Amino acid sequence: MDAIFTRTSVRSYEERPVEEAKIERILRAAMAAPSAVNQQHWEFYVVTDQAVLKELSQASPYAAMTAHAPVAIVVVGRTQGLSAPQMRDYDLAIATENMLLEIEAQGLGGVMLGIAPHQERMDKVAAALGLPEHLTVFTVVPFGYPQHKSPQRDRFDPQRVHYLR
Ligand SMILES: Cc1cc2nc3c(=O)[nH]c(=O)nc-3n(C[C@H](O)[C@H](O)[C@H](O)COP(=O)(O)O)c2cc1C
Repeated sequence: MDAIFTRTSVRSYEERPVEEAKIERILRAAMAAPSAVNQQHWEFYVVTDQAVLKELSQASPYAAMTAHAPVAIVVVGRTQGLSAPQMRDYDLAIATENMLLEIEAQGLGGVMLGIAPHQERMDKVAAALGLPEHLTVFTVVPFGYPQHKSPQRDRFDPQRVHYLR
């Protein structure tokens, strides 16, 4: 899959909106992810409202680009009725990586923001969305058509690989 080897974080975006069909495809990629005991406890909030994007950009000191993105997807998890609650963040992280790869595959660019487990950041995102109590925030992914994108550097390090044979 080429996107794995071309994806880099993109933090500046053209003003043009992202087509609905591309957003749906990115959401489909997220929900195609594996999850513990297939619990699929994820929910996705698609934000194009500029006032909400601005609020999201203030949720952490490293989220400023969100104010200038045409769209952001907030990844949240249900807290009730989970078969493997201790695995919840693994599931949401894998779904987020699937999104980042599909964003890349669609000719777009985005970045995953560090929100959970910082409670203060999670609370700010929840307030911006008006999130119900039974959902908790995991991350925010602003994305759009890249204004600037760095090429990926090869991070393969054979010294990190340990064979037992
Ligand atoms: C858990 C996680 C949290 C991150 N949080 C932020 C963030 O808050 N703001 C940001 O600009 N980038 C954030 N990033 C992006 C990383 O800085 C980026 O992935 C890393 O520098 C490697 O660069 P690359 O994505 O271009 O390969 C985060 C990435 C991960 C995986």
